[in-house]
Amino acid sequence: MGLTYKQVFENNRLWVAEKKASDSDFFSKLEEEQHPDYLYIGCSDSRVPAEIFMGAQPGEVFVHRNIANQVALSDQNALSVIHFAVDQLRVKHIVVCGHYMCGGVQAAMERKQDSPLDPWFDQVREVAELNRLELERLNDVGERFRRLVELNVEAQCRNVLKREVVKESIRNNGSPTLHGWVFDIHSGGLIDLDFQYDPDSI
Ligand code: CO
Repeated sequence: MGLTYKQVFENNRLWVAEKKASDSDFFSKLEEEQHPDYLYIGCSDSRVPAEIFMGAQPGEVFVHRNIANQVALSDQNALSVIHFAVDQLRVKHIVVCGHYMCGGVQAAMERKQDSPLDPWFDQVREVAELNRLELERLNDVGERFRRLVELNVEAQCRNVLKREVVKESIRNNGSPTLHGWVFDIHSGGLIDLDFQYDPDSI
């Protein structure tokens, strides 16, 4: 692997040609406006390319990514994305997608590094602390790591549900629907965690 800088632009030219060959109006249609059905909130990890593993085309997924796919209630960036996606784009689905082997989650499992990233990882540490008993029951470190990835996804789904704009839209329109996913880098497979919540009690 190793994508050269020059190759990026060569790839782009090929991609444009390919898109135009299959649909000559592809870019003029894109230009009109976006109607994505999905808001995807995932990890920045380069091995977890949302649109590629979803088989999605431009215009189909509104994306927000950060380290360890977090939706901190103090994070104006994530909150603006959610607000716009729900209020303006009226997405049908909001997905929080974590992934096994997540470096951000792993860092949160370890002691503080005295690094500028500590406050960011603290939010995942909090998820670990809240679920300490369940995690301690797992003897295998790898299993504990995978479980914390899943628990973090569910915690972030709950954070999405705390946003007033999301609650209001669910109450008034019955959507968006919330989903928690994990991408398994080892197999390339997508796992639906079947995140449970009661839309009627929101
Ligand atoms: Co990650």
